[in-house]
Amino acid sequence: MNATLLEINHVTKSFKDGEHNLTVLNKVSLKVERGNLIAIVGPSGSGKTTLLSIAGLLQSVDEGEIWINKKQISQNNEIEKSRIRLNEIGFIFQQSNLIPYLTVEEQLKLVLKLAKKPWEQHKLYVAELLESMGILHKKFHFPHQLSGGQKQRVAIARSLINNPSIILADEPTASLDSSRSFEIMSLLANEIKKNQKAGIVVTHDETILPLCDQIYYMKDGRIDHLAGKQESDKAETKSIFLT
Ligand SMILES: Nc1ncnc2c1ncn2[C@@H]1O[C@H](COP(=O)(O)OP(=O)(O)O)[C@@H](O)[C@H]1O
Ligand SMILES: [Mg+2]
Repeated sequence: MNATLLEINHVTKSFKDGEHNLTVLNKVSLKVERGNLIAIVGPSGSGKTTLLSIAGLLQSVDEGEIWINKKQISQNNEIEKSRIRLNEIGFIFQQSNLIPYLTVEEQLKLVLKLAKKPWEQHKLYVAELLESMGILHKKFHFPHQLSGGQKQRVAIARSLINNPSIILADEPTASLDSSRSFEIMSLLANEIKKNQKAGIVVTHDETILPLCDQIYYMKDGRIDHLAGKQESDKAETKSIFLT
């Protein structure tokens, strides 16, 4: 059985930069299998965020294809794209982007409401999710009452609440110290494994790479497979962080 949940096929994307065309993604292809978390590393400006936003249907491609759950996504159907974004994709960003005047529980309630899912039927799942993120005791707290790590735990819970099959995280640990980063990414990696989701994390944080099944390196809009989970790959992975 083909277990690919997300497939990016020969995607090209350019932006107009004055008179020039800036090619930000150059025939990029990538597959993420069920139960896998992959990392994308690489210098600033190499196209990582653009790639994630294309995978998350926030931007359209110039050329190439996006397949989600074995279905090719039409780039022009905005209604379908927003339905897939809401139900099939969970996003996590560097900043938690929590709504300041909602409690932890209400942040999740709002997402359920947008997806037209009744609160009563999902209340228990919300509690379970907050529990598994270690923040159930914070459910009546507001964002300003939480630490940076706790806010990211809420952001992760929020990204999972609609049970999406794909999780896209753009530098989710960039504002955390490295011991917190590992702890929090472990929670996400566990959810991805346990519930057979597919995840991509863009990161500069080498401490979280051991949690990832595959590592890709992006430079100048091109992507290379760098390492899998084998021991022999690790030296090579290390070397890119030292350059
Ligand atoms: N909407 C846009 N318009 C013009 N240029 C953009 C736009 N988005 C990104 N870029 C450019 O594309 C390149 C890649 O950006 P980005 O995907 O954010 O890289 P990364 O996340 O790897 O730092 C950069 O040169 C950036 O300035
Ligand atoms: Mg970026």
